[in-house]
Amino acid sequence: MFTRYDSFVVLAESLQWDETTIDFAPDQGAWPALDESENGQVLGLIAGFCIAESAVSGHLDSFQAAASDDSVAACFRAQARDEHRHARFFDRVAAEVAAVPGADIAARLDVLRTLVSPELVTLFEERLPATALRLAEDHGGLTAAVGLYHMVLEGVVLLAGQNAMLDTLGHLSVGLPGVRRGVELVLRDERWHIGFGTRLVQGAGLGRDEVEALLVLGQAAAGAWGDLVSPAAAERAVRIHRNRLRGVDMKFF
Ligand SMILES: [Fe+2]
Ligand SMILES: [Fe+2]
Repeated sequence: MFTRYDSFVVLAESLQWDETTIDFAPDQGAWPALDESENGQVLGLIAGFCIAESAVSGHLDSFQAAASDDSVAACFRAQARDEHRHARFFDRVAAEVAAVPGADIAARLDVLRTLVSPELVTLFEERLPATALRLAEDHGGLTAAVGLYHMVLEGVVLLAGQNAMLDTLGHLSVGLPGVRRGVELVLRDERWHIGFGTRLVQGAGLGRDEVEALLVLGQAAAGAWGDLVSPAAAERAVRIHRNRLRGVDMKFF
């Protein structure tokens, strides 16, 4: 039987890309020409993406195990494939374009953590793992876990960061075409991840308190980038989040 979730898996298949084929040669040539503030802004955003994608790619197993049926589990599986690719892409950017020191991804993450706010690190490296652990122990918590992962972390925090990155790349004194191409492809994948998660939450019949909690969580998380994302861009992400939650239940708004 074709379910309403199967279309996400078909879409994911059609959007596959290979991060190893992106040519960073122009970016490597341009990187040293960035001025200090450009370097700080781009590197800070790259740091956040490395931390975030590395974290989200490691926690989808418990979501898959908690899925109510095979078609939902297949979506989480397809998403995990995307997230692993995103983590590899941003680590390539860190190592090959930004020349972040470190023998491996773990060593580079140690360096990159110092470049973002503690709030961002806490969201992805403490709050998300704790939620995934609870989900592994109690599959009944899937909606709340998807609310955090797909709607808040991806739908607010990462979306705000990706839009800030594309905006930043568009105004640099030199171009970083390989980075831009990859970020655009990541953003394309993230759209279906967020759409999938939103549909799951919308179908779960959340109560008013749960919807409000997701709104408050999104509002708080929007500021996690600190100065790397403008207040206007963070507010825009919260507005989109509120609109998605409006679809969860109209009577709450
Ligand atoms: Fe991702
Ligand atoms: Fe994602």
